[in-house]
Amino acid sequence: MTTEYKYSTVLVDFEDGIAWVTLNRPEKRNAMSPTLNKEMIEVIEKLEVDERCGVLVLTGAGDAFSAGMDLKEFFRESDNLPPEAWAQISRNSQIWQLQRLRYFPKPTIAMVNGWCFGGGFNPVTACDIAVAAEEAIFGLSEVNWGIIPAGNVLKSVTTTMRHRDGLYYSLTGDNFNGTEAAKMGFVNFAVPRAEMRDKVKEIATKMLGKNRAAARAIKNAYRKIAEMSWDASEDYLMAKLDQLRLTDPDKGRAKGMKQFLDDKTYRPGLGAYKADK
Ligand code: COA
Repeated sequence: MTTEYKYSTVLVDFEDGIAWVTLNRPEKRNAMSPTLNKEMIEVIEKLEVDERCGVLVLTGAGDAFSAGMDLKEFFRESDNLPPEAWAQISRNSQIWQLQRLRYFPKPTIAMVNGWCFGGGFNPVTACDIAVAAEEAIFGLSEVNWGIIPAGNVLKSVTTTMRHRDGLYYSLTGDNFNGTEAAKMGFVNFAVPRAEMRDKVKEIATKMLGKNRAAARAIKNAYRKIAEMSWDASEDYLMAKLDQLRLTDPDKGRAKGMKQFLDDKTYRPGLGAYKADK
């Protein structure tokens, strides 16, 4: 952990272009407290401009990815706060999970190592890609203690789970494991826990070899156009296409065409062009 990332509830490590961000309250199963939420806002803000981070991986320390929002520190201890103070506390969780992480300018991977409940679904959904341990256990447990999956958890569920699965799991509170999560499409892959980190590294390395400006534009556009009309989306994507052509520091489009059409050194259907580095 580098000194500029010294936090009480989050660890940050860098390795070959990957920033490994670990929710670090294993004794509380990485439940998300107001402190953790504040720290995550800072961590993500810093990583946005940290050149050591080409891909962000979010995971949890110990047996849990995250047991969701902290029932004691986030919920019970907020019960008697003035409405403005509660609004600020709840807003902080939304800011890091559903704004900063969702629109993080580089690819993100959720590595779901273990327990993942309630509010824990938000960061999984916010990440572009998700890999789970087959042994991980998921649950929309809100119904088990008489609340609605607020904090936009239910909204997250509607974007990453199929209609019937989302309603079934939010109404029953049943658990499902990593293998089932992959079958339902809630995560991309489930692998034995011992192989999970290697699988994540393999995906991250693949993404690190692609044009970064294009990746940034693709991931932002993907989420934004989902809520646009076809006409608005057409305009938006054309504008982004032109913008990227002008702003891509690597001028990937021109290089890609030259290397395919003139130099015949690669095939875009089978891999990435060669950047000058
Ligand atoms: N909020 C606050 N504290 C939590 C927590 C949460 N979401 N999840 C776990 N903890 C705490 C426990 O209170 C316990 O604290 P203690 O040691 O001071 O008593 C500690 O973490 C360990 O929890 P425990 O239940 O003993 O661990 P476990 O490994 O047997 O079970 C879970 C793990 C995740 C199945 C279980 O802790 C659980 O059901 N947590 C709540 C999950 C949930 O419904 N989250 C949704 C919130 S919207």
